[in-house]
Amino acid sequence: MSATLTPTMPPQFAPGPTGLKRLRMVKESSQDPLRIIPELIRDHGDVARIRFFWVNYHVVNHPEGVRRVLVENHKNYIKSRNYVGLKVLLGQGLLTAEGEHWRRERKLAQPAFHRERLQGFADTMVDTTDQMLERWSAEGGGIRDVHAEMMRLTLRIVGLTLFGADLDGDAQDVGRALTVALTWANRHAESLIRVPWWVPSGPNLRFLAAKRSIVKVVQRVISERRSRGVDGTDLLGMLMSARDESDGKGMSDQQLLDELLTLVLAGHETTANALSFALYLLAQHPEQARALEAQIDAALGEAPPTLADLPKLDAVRMVAEEAMRLFPPAWVMERDALEDDLIMGHRVPKGSTVGLFPYTLHRHPAYWNEPERFDPSRFEKAAAEARPKHVYFPFGGGPRFCIGNAFAMMELQLLLSMILQRFRVAPAPGFQLELEPSITLRPAAGMPLTLEPRR
Ligand code: HEM
Repeated sequence: MSATLTPTMPPQFAPGPTGLKRLRMVKESSQDPLRIIPELIRDHGDVARIRFFWVNYHVVNHPEGVRRVLVENHKNYIKSRNYVGLKVLLGQGLLTAEGEHWRRERKLAQPAFHRERLQGFADTMVDTTDQMLERWSAEGGGIRDVHAEMMRLTLRIVGLTLFGADLDGDAQDVGRALTVALTWANRHAESLIRVPWWVPSGPNLRFLAAKRSIVKVVQRVISERRSRGVDGTDLLGMLMSARDESDGKGMSDQQLLDELLTLVLAGHETTANALSFALYLLAQHPEQARALEAQIDAALGEAPPTLADLPKLDAVRMVAEEAMRLFPPAWVMERDALEDDLIMGHRVPKGSTVGLFPYTLHRHPAYWNEPERFDPSRFEKAAAEARPKHVYFPFGGGPRFCIGNAFAMMELQLLLSMILQRFRVAPAPGFQLELEPSITLRPAAGMPLTLEPRR
């Protein structure tokens, strides 16, 4: 006899794999999540559950579910226990803090990202990119690891705009150390049995050395600023001069350190990945790349872009958005449920982890026609407005929405326009893109592309 759902029947758990299939999926999900998560959704639907010992993991691949977790019932969720590695690295910065501490820090930092402030950042972004392109021009065309270049460029931009510090000399060291630290944080999150970070194992010692070298750079930035005297014009200045309304106390060096580390991390690798994927996609689609070059030339000629030019560079915005649809730098967001919840009719018990996956929802065939195809026209204003909210969420949603969203979109538009104005991108012979779904989604082995000067 088949059961019929009545109002008195308790809600059911979400469907999911059982038996050997479950064991296989649990094992493979940490090695190859970009294959396993879509398989789980294909076989079990847009809310699926996979259990293993004490872990009760829900994959949610529907805009209504995203809204439930990030917006409607956000108070019921905290960042998942998989952020533990990031917490060791970033302490109580904006990305990892919770509750009252998070609210206070967000309030303090928000004004530094207001639109009027961004005006001033545009000039820095353009000047810094111009210096990179001058170097490229001097070195001539050929194959370049665009991902390494974008990491260096975006690190410099974050340092100059938010802290008034040029980190270019530190870029290589910081880049290497961040890779070590993030790889550790990722593995730490994935391990079922975690060796505490303070146990002197090989990976832990390498992580601690990497963390020390990043902290050293950030501490130098803070002490240079303290000795110059605090001015409140950039984010660091604002954070340093901020006072708590209740006790009049300022931020301790530890708080500043956590916040700066967070912004270095959240503000540069994500943007560098988005830029690299956008350039990769254009290299793969020469017709679209030529059309875009023509639009950029028509809008700018040979002059560098200004903030006022951005509306004329809407085609560049669409390419950036489409690149983040196919390759969302934040490919997963995870939360732990504080109390039982109901997501699209499924019972999600207290303590469960919920994974929201831009990588799969951005390719959901119910919302995207030919989801695998690169088609920036999906982001024409009318098409984007017609789409349900939260189908596309590269910057998250609700109160924990990316604070750097407008900063990043401006940066993507300015930098891409400048690069394409001066260089033509083409594939590098023999290069096959492999993805590394670490804390961010990045190319696994750099992003070599052929770049030829256009002038
Ligand atoms: C293409 C570039 C970027 C992408 C795709 C991106 C994506 C995201 C996402 C998805 C979240 C929410 C995470 C969650 O809910 O678990 C987030 C949060 C955050 N992002 Fe971004 N981000 C980008 C650029 C930036 C930039 C440029 C900055 C700073 C300069 C920044 C700073 C932050 C911070 C501080 C948070 C934590 C906010 C909070 O919880 O209050 N991001 N970002």
